[in-house]
Amino acid sequence: MKNIYSKFWSRTRKQLGVKQYDKDLIHELSNRLKKGKMLDVGIGDGFPYSKVLDEMGYEVYGIDLSPTHVNMVTETLPNINVAIGDSEYLEFKDNFFDVVFCFRSTWYFTNLIKSISEMLRVVKDEGLILFDVQNINHPIHVKFLKEQVRRKNHYIYEITTKFFKNFIKLIIRPIRFYSIDWSFNKHIIVGTPTDPSSINQYLSKEYNINYKIYGVNWDHSSTLEEITTTMDVNHFDRLVYKVIKI
Ligand SMILES: C[S@@+](CC[C@H](N)C(=O)[O-])C[C@H]1O[C@@H](n2cnc3c(N)ncnc32)[C@H](O)[C@@H]1O
Repeated sequence: MKNIYSKFWSRTRKQLGVKQYDKDLIHELSNRLKKGKMLDVGIGDGFPYSKVLDEMGYEVYGIDLSPTHVNMVTETLPNINVAIGDSEYLEFKDNFFDVVFCFRSTWYFTNLIKSISEMLRVVKDEGLILFDVQNINHPIHVKFLKEQVRRKNHYIYEITTKFFKNFIKLIIRPIRFYSIDWSFNKHIIVGTPTDPSSINQYLSKEYNINYKIYGVNWDHSSTLEEITTTMDVNHFDRLVYKVIKI
């Protein structure tokens, strides 16, 4: 049963395809070296990054906190060395990987700086670390966070309003159909965006690295835009950090 689910999910993901953003990231990961060891932190189901890099001939490792995801990778991508693991305590020797990457996962980490320090530890000298973060200062995240706080603080008001709206929908149903959602569960916080200045502060203190930040421009065909000193970082809701250990 688990096997069928893994295969179904991996086929669905393949159909969703590899987006321009994913292609840009894969390009950044692969244009420095043609062979080598890569670690995917928070590998998920392994699609698209680890799968594509494995097909390109890299020796791919992955870790994830979720046993379900680790099982999916084991079943669908047998070449990949995958294990249950925590980004804050990577169970690898120092200087083990040529490249370490972490995409679409940092906003679930409880301690991102510790996770970055671990990625820096396990990557070799002259190795590359690439990870993306959600920018907490971008208006989209500011609005979302305010909404979360409002819901948390005014839960009774929220469920009462929802109840009355549903009641009205039921009354007008013979005239017009509106779907009704009766779930009154408290909202689960799905992720925490990052203040880029906290990462910049940490990275600036590390003496043995160089780094660049890219903003993701979802409107352009080439999505990664290098952020220069004259640009406003808060124009971008997603930021990609490219760190080279020297
Ligand atoms: C949205 S998925 C992204 C998966 C994959 N990187 C991708 O781009 O499709 C986030 C993943 O991070 C994993 N995760 C969350 N916290 C983690 C942690 N502290 N250490 C390792 N993995 C973690 C989750 O289990 C989940 O598989």
